[in-house]
Order: sequence, then C-alpha cells, then structure tokens
Amino acid sequence: MRHLPPILVVDDDPNMRATLEGILRSERHDIVPAESAEEALRFLEEREFLLMISDVRLGKMSGHELLKEAHRRWPSLPVILITAYATPRLAVAAIQDGAFDYLAKPFAPEELLHLVAHCAERQTLVRENSAFRAREQQAFQLDRLIGDSARMRDLRQLIRTVAPTNATVLILGESGTGKELIAGCLHSLSHRSSEAYVRINCAAIPEGLLESELFGHEKGSFTGASRSKPGRVEEADGGTVFLDEIGDMSRALQAKLLRFLEDGSFTRVGGNEELSVDVRVVAATNRDIVRLIQDGGFREDLFHRLNVVQFRPPPLRERGDDVAQLAEHFIGTYCRALNKPRMELGRAAQQALLRHRWPGNVRELRNAIERAVILETGSEVNPASLPDFTLEARLSASVNSGSGAGADMDRPLEEALADYERRLITAALGRHHNVGRTAEALRISRHALRYRMQRLGLQPEAADEESTATDRGNN
Ligand SMILES: Nc1ncnc2c1ncn2[C@@H]1O[C@H](COP(=O)(O)OP(=O)(O)OP(=O)(O)O)[C@@H](O)[C@H]1O
Ligand SMILES: [Mg+2]
Repeated sequence: MRHLPPILVVDDDPNMRATLEGILRSERHDIVPAESAEEALRFLEEREFLLMISDVRLGKMSGHELLKEAHRRWPSLPVILITAYATPRLAVAAIQDGAFDYLAKPFAPEELLHLVAHCAERQTLVRENSAFRAREQQAFQLDRLIGDSARMRDLRQLIRTVAPTNATVLILGESGTGKELIAGCLHSLSHRSSEAYVRINCAAIPEGLLESELFGHEKGSFTGASRSKPGRVEEADGGTVFLDEIGDMSRALQAKLLRFLEDGSFTRVGGNEELSVDVRVVAATNRDIVRLIQDGGFREDLFHRLNVVQFRPPPLRERGDDVAQLAEHFIGTYCRALNKPRMELGRAAQQALLRHRWPGNVRELRNAIERAVILETGSEVNPASLPDFTLEARLSASVNSGSGAGADMDRPLEEALADYERRLITAALGRHHNVGRTAEALRISRHALRYRMQRLGLQPEAADEESTATDRGNN
C-alpha cells in the first residue's frame, strides 16, 4: 500500500492545534494544520487528505459550515468534529451533515487515535476497491476499440505490447481517429492503472497558464498566484500524463518539457527547488508534426524524445469494413441510450457509409449514427436519416481549401475573393438544389447568380437541369 495522505487539522487555537498534532504524530500520521475554515477549504482544493479533523468553534465560518461544504464538494472525505460543548442534539446534527464522528472535549488521546485508525482503515479499503475496479476495467477498455481491419488488429497488438512498459508514446493521427481512446488504453493496461491518469489539453489552456498547470507555481510568482499550487505532473506521480494537442505547446514550454522528459525533474513557476516525479508520458497531436518542425513551431529534439514509440491510428476511410462494424456498434450504443428497440443498418445506408470519405473519422461517424437513431422510427437505419454526405464533402473541401495554413496569405485579392464566392455559391446550391431558390437565399437575382456562376466556372449540376430549364423560361 502506498503512503497515506496527510490529515487536515483545523483549529483557530494554536495550543489545540499543537496538542492534536502531538497526538497524531505519535502514530506517525502526516499533518497539515489550518487555522480557519477558509484556509482548510483552500487546502482541500489543492490536494488529497486522509481525513479532516475540525473544531466546531472557528473564526468566521464554523466547523459545522465547513463540514457541510466539505461534504458537498468532497463527499468521500471523512470529517471528525471536535467541540467543548457537546450535546446529543449537536452530535446528531453533525452526523446528519455527513460527519464521520464527533468527539467531545476533553478526550483521551486514545479516543482520537482510535477514531483515526478506524477512518484510515476504511479509506484504505475504499482505495483498494477502486484500484481493483480499475484493473477489472482493463479488458473492457481495449474492447472499446472497435474494428477488425488488419490495421486495427495491429494497433491493438501494439497497445498490448507497449502499455506495460514505461516507454514514452507519441500518437499521430487525424481528428477523431481515437487518439484519446488509445492513450486511455495505454494507461489502463499498464501497471500504473491504479494510479492517476491526468489528461492535459495543451490547446485548451491559455499559453501563459499551461506551464503552471503542468508544473505548478509558487506563491506570488505571478499576479493572481496568491498561494502555491502543485503541478498536475505531481498529481500524476506514479501514473500517466496524457499531453493532448502537444503540437500547440509554445516553444518555451517545449524546452522545459524536454528537460522533464529526461529525468522527471522540474521546478514550479517562481520556485527554486528541484522537484521530481515518476510519470509516464503519452502525447498526441492531429497536426502535421513534420511540417511543424520544418516551420519552426516544434522542437525536433522534443519530437525525438517523445517519439520512442509511435502510434498512427489510421483514418476511417482506410479502414474498409470497419465503417460498417463501427456503425453497428454505435447503433447498439445509441439505441440503448435512447431506449429504442434494436435497429439494423439497412443495405443502402451501409453503402452510403462505405462511400463517404469521413474527414471527421470515427467521431463524425458516431455523430451521424446518433442523429440517425434519433430520427429513425422504424427498425432500420436508412440513407434518409443520414446526413447529406455529398453536401458535406463539398463543404469540407471548401473549408479545407480556405483554412489550409497560409493558403490565403499574399494571394491576389481578386483571386481570393473569387475563391470565396465560388465556395459560398457551391454550398448554397448544395443546400437549395436549384438556381431560383439559391438566388433568393443569397439575395441576388437569378440573372446575377447565373452570371456569377458562369464567370466562376460553376456548372449547374445535372440535378438542377430541370429547375434551371424552367428558370431559363422565366428569364
Ligand atoms: N476504434 C474505435 N472504436 C470505437 N470508438 C472509437 C474508435 N476510435 C474512436 N472512437 C470514438 O470516436 C470519438 C473520437 O475519438 P477520440 O476522442 O479518441 O479522437 P481523437 O483522435 O482524440 O480526436 P481529436 O484529434 O479531434 O482530439 C470518441 O467518442 C471515441 O470513443
Ligand atoms: Mg483528442
């Protein structure tokens, strides 16, 4: 069993704090003293405690209020209340508010130690039980990776081989290909599975705060740092850190991460002390890492350090029949979730799914199926309840050509505007299916629309012929 977390002792009377500390330290418990309820709550936010022992009479906020608040926010934290004015009514109220027990002053040291031992024993059981449950979930986790294509089977095998090692892993793949799922599997199939799994999304945290999120900070190290805070790598000690969207990390922080990867050592922001932890690092990005390195956005040495084992989950369009298998899987999931009777994947729908290119990969497929299961009233998923893939393909092609990094930079204005116009009109045509309605939606005359289409080299689609013909008659 790992070393137990400390006991939080809350009392505004320094003598009483010293007495409690003396008693508890005699049994080699670690203590963190707090002199007010407010301070105790701040400590509770920062780390884990075995239990909290609090006096009922405190400064502003009473021990009872502290108990209620702590019970609401950390329901599994045991709390022992101590008071000089014990009455049965107060004792009952305390237990009802979630106290583990209630101790009246004066008490014998053994009484307190007995309560604490009882508490510690219970906490250990709870921890062992959750470690046990985490282990039980392992097989289940790998099962969540659906797909029997050769590439998925290889991927699963690689996960099984690499998970139990301490090797750093880099996962490279398009959006929605299952990078996060793979990272979770690597943790849950490792010997670290009963310890913490900490995911940090480097793209979601503002650049200036990411370092302190990762490595923590000391009090006063920057405006707003009113007290020191441990880093998430400390939280992950013994476990795994998943650095998601690592391609979005600033170069300055990349250098610090590199040092951390060498030997697990780091210093908190504004701190001098060198700290060190034992964590396994898994990183992922959907960006083109080679191009990032060439453009100077990513350090090559960090890439090599992360790239001890590389995972490349394949895009869905290269996974053949996995599309149908995943679709069946998600139909089952959403039918259960939405309490609908089991549905089948109709043949025509299956064909449509197999033809689509899936730029958003498994996530896109999952969303498409969720929508279909909601819309379908029968026992089969039909193409009508699936998204209009032809439209989506055209839209995504236009989005990609528009966002392609730097594609719009320093282009002749006329050309860029024409491109934009072309995309806009194509998308509107896809939505409205005929020139008349499209013109209406774009608030221009049919004549103007046809003129622009001609200039932009856009042909009315075959499906629009008929309406175009009638339009022609009208003009
Ligand atoms: N092989 C798979 N089997 C079943 N579900 C999958 C599979 N791959 C991905 N998923 C599901 O697809 C969704 C997207 O997966 P995930 O979040 O892991 O993608 P990602 O690669 O991290 O994407 P992004 O780069 O956008 O963050 C999740 O709901 C995940 O459970
Ligand atoms: Mg992800």
